[in-house]
Amino acid sequence: MKISFINKQIKDIESDLEIILLKNHKYLKVNDLFIKDTKFYVKIANFKHYTLTETFTNTIQYISKINKYKSIKITLYGISDKKLQALIDGLILGIYNFTKYQSEAKNLKLQDVFIANEDYKNTQLSYEKIKMKIENLIIINTNINLVRDMINSVAQDTTPIKISNWIKEEVKNTDIECIIKDNSYIKKELPAFYDISKGSINKPRLVHLKYNENKGYKKIVLIGKGVTFDTGGISLKPSAYMYDMRLDKAGAVTIFGIIKSIHDLKLPIEVHAMLGFSENMISNNAYKPGDVIKTRSGKSIEIMNTDAEGRILLADLFEYSQDKIKQIDYIFDYATLTGSVSGAIGQYSAGLIGHNTQLKNKMIKASNKVDEWYVNLPFNRYFFEDSYKSAIADFTNIPTSSIGGGTIMGGVFINNFLKNKYKNKWLHIDIACVAFIKNSWKYHEFGATGFGVKSSINLIRRLTKTGLIKKDGI
Ligand code: BES
Ligand code: ZN
Ligand code: ZN
Repeated sequence: MKISFINKQIKDIESDLEIILLKNHKYLKVNDLFIKDTKFYVKIANFKHYTLTETFTNTIQYISKINKYKSIKITLYGISDKKLQALIDGLILGIYNFTKYQSEAKNLKLQDVFIANEDYKNTQLSYEKIKMKIENLIIINTNINLVRDMINSVAQDTTPIKISNWIKEEVKNTDIECIIKDNSYIKKELPAFYDISKGSINKPRLVHLKYNENKGYKKIVLIGKGVTFDTGGISLKPSAYMYDMRLDKAGAVTIFGIIKSIHDLKLPIEVHAMLGFSENMISNNAYKPGDVIKTRSGKSIEIMNTDAEGRILLADLFEYSQDKIKQIDYIFDYATLTGSVSGAIGQYSAGLIGHNTQLKNKMIKASNKVDEWYVNLPFNRYFFEDSYKSAIADFTNIPTSSIGGGTIMGGVFINNFLKNKYKNKWLHIDIACVAFIKNSWKYHEFGATGFGVKSSINLIRRLTKTGLIKKDGI
């Protein structure tokens, strides 16, 4: 489906069907829709941006279900950023369907969506300006659908090797550099990452994506947990909590979507995305509760629970990134780290953790603008006191006393592997609750949402505009 913004009145555009939103109609109830000849009428309660998002979503889903029309046309219902976004989000995220595994997936007839510039001609924004905004929204949403496809794809199709190759393929003809490190490199350089991967026949991979290296821009490092399937390991998950654990690669896939969007939008910032792919399996070679494993930093971890594997992978990815990349301005990590985040905040937002309140607030503000939400989960210094104290090693991998706050405690663990100079430049984003949902809402159906791409792009865009950071942190 191709979306084109046309500098014409809607009546001058040729198409099979014209979409018309009506607020005042005597006989229709809100959300009623009907087709008469080549007109498709939808009754809308108001023209607020969130109502528009839902209306455009329902409309495009309805049209794709009838699957009769090759082209449709619609005019703008507002030119504010939020209204343009409602239109493009509704159309592109709304029409998404994960049909890869269905034998009779229908071929979508709809090929063209024409958006007319009619109502806002000669107003404050030029056609070119609106067109650029629409094109940027198309870029981001297309990448979000790719992220959804990758997360939704099942574990046998997205083993560490397969998903790494898929990503390599996606960036092949771009200016993103892709370096893939294999099992033996990981064994030597990231030993804890290696250890949590030992139980699986599907060997781990580290994917390092780079964009705009050494061009004098500020530098952002994105780190992502990419557990392609999380059985829990020897500390096996109960079946009901295991079957959808293909979602556990969402952090890594999300940062792929972010760097790809930054590239496609040509944002002036140097980005490194570090994707750690591993499968947490149960086998005679798997790491065990009670094992003590060494991290890249030399610090040791006593394994109390093999299901808390993500933080171990991240520990080594953090050390590795800080060693390999000099003078980082920001470090953001994305991970489906803790099941407890769902109970704490529900399925509509991500948990936001870090030392820098100002930076967190910037993320919250930037995300609200693009209809994503984060919940600030604050550190408290007592969380840090002896919470991972092991009798025999430097740390345990789960808290040793039941102080609760599992999601914050995930952040407390990772913090041990972050150099002091980067403490204020770090955000930890736990997306275990929003990355993959069972109850559909807005333009999200069952499965992967692609959460995190939009908000991160908006934050990064703002950071590049405002001169980012002072050298001593924000
Ligand atoms: N991948 C899970 C977290 C998760 C749970 C993601 C549900 C998405 C939905 C993670 O590896 C895990 O199992 N974490 C444990 C940590 C605990 C042992 C400290 C958890 O949340 O139970
Ligand atoms: Zn786990
Ligand atoms: Zn996991």
